Amino acid sequence: MIPPKPVSRSGRVSLWRYWRMFRDDILSAQPAHLYRAKMAEFRTPFFRSYLVNEPTLVRQVLVERPEDFPKSERVTRGLAPLLGQSVFVTNGATWAHQRRIIDPAFEGGRVKDIFPAMLQAAQAMVARVSEGELDVEEMASHATADVIFRTLFSRTIEDEVARQTYDAFRRFQRTQPVAVGAALIPWLPVRLKREARDAAARLRDLITNLVVERQRLIQAGQAPDDLATKIMTTPDPETGEVFSEQEMIDQVAIFFLAGHETSASLLGWALWCLAAAPEWGDRVRDEATSFMAAPDFSGLSRMPVTRNVLRETLRLYPPVPMFVREATRSETFRKRDVRAGAQVVISPWHLGRHEAHWENPDVFDPGRWERKKPEREMYLPFSAGPRVCPGAGFAMAEGAVLLAAMIAAFRMDVLETPVPVAHLTVRARDGIRLRVRVLREPNRT
Ligand code: HEM
Repeated sequence: MIPPKPVSRSGRVSLWRYWRMFRDDILSAQPAHLYRAKMAEFRTPFFRSYLVNEPTLVRQVLVERPEDFPKSERVTRGLAPLLGQSVFVTNGATWAHQRRIIDPAFEGGRVKDIFPAMLQAAQAMVARVSEGELDVEEMASHATADVIFRTLFSRTIEDEVARQTYDAFRRFQRTQPVAVGAALIPWLPVRLKREARDAAARLRDLITNLVVERQRLIQAGQAPDDLATKIMTTPDPETGEVFSEQEMIDQVAIFFLAGHETSASLLGWALWCLAAAPEWGDRVRDEATSFMAAPDFSGLSRMPVTRNVLRETLRLYPPVPMFVREATRSETFRKRDVRAGAQVVISPWHLGRHEAHWENPDVFDPGRWERKKPEREMYLPFSAGPRVCPGAGFAMAEGAVLLAAMIAAFRMDVLETPVPVAHLTVRARDGIRLRVRVLREPNRT
């Protein structure tokens, strides 16, 4: 069985209706033509936005001329109280300096080093689950927050500071508008400013304590060998500078934000897809059972079906459904004038379900990845070009370990069809509720 089609494709909509969709349920009621269009234009009284769905345009914006299409300040403004000058929002020389320090922490070898921490988080997650109804989205958020704390700061989610940070983070998230609302709706960020600022201030206080304590441990030569230590001690190879305390606080904030909700979204939707397509669940279980019997990093490369399930989930439910750049000068896109200041929306959600580029685009079919490689620009869950997600390798390893641990231990059945909505990431409007049956009694000690 394949999962029932989760999105309806309605007709053309006005900007006003589009705004209401953003507020309520942007993803399940997208106009049908956007899944066929090469480009679409949205007009607001103050600026214009362009959704680009054509490979050559996507490549221009992300890969060939990224300096002409920096991150849009209009969109990142809502996150500024939390993120400050983090790598997610900066542009130009500041951004390049930050990436030179951050990237080495996420190289393949480092992912191997932090694999044991990911595995422990996966085992702790399984031990928390019991038979009956379960909101796997909630469970996934908790588990991926645990992964981030363990890998970044060598703390578990049960730790008091970690728990407070997680709670503060969830409060901040609830203040956030839908993912790219600000690129289409001029007044959206203003309404939510105050609540977001308060939640962000609390979160930054907690992160500051973590960073200050870590700096003390580094100076005393007692710091654990985790991602925080690596990032705080790596000098920029061009300037020799290391991150100041303030810079590190900004980066930690983005690692929590970009690194935990996204992975939670992936795990939640992957579990739903496998519950709805049990024949794929069984195939993953075969791999997962062998992997969990003697889990080690090299075993990840022996799980091709699990990997294809994750890829297919990322195609249908990309955790970051859309992201936005700003045109810094006049452009001509598909013979249309695009003025400087226009917002350019890249939408993994539409690219991954585009009717001209995918066979049976709404069908969950991990087997497609064995048959044919996709066009690069039509599959962008981690973006592309110099601003590609630095955590992609981390996220794929984490996704495989968490999914394998769950599927080896439990069978899950569908209770209802979740409705995807776009907040900071693609979540389900009412959670993802599945019925859980224990296959292998987890070690609950
Ligand atoms: C399934 C999981 C993940 C997905 C789908 C994902 C996706 C993305 C996407 C699409 C972007 C580009 C956004 C834009 O250009 O506006 C991005 C950027 C970023 N991601 Fe991820 N991400 C994931 C996990 C992670 C993890 C685990 C980390 C780190 C622990 C991370 C750290 C970052 C950072 C720091 C950026 C900003 C990069 C820059 O602007 O130069 N992500 N991610």
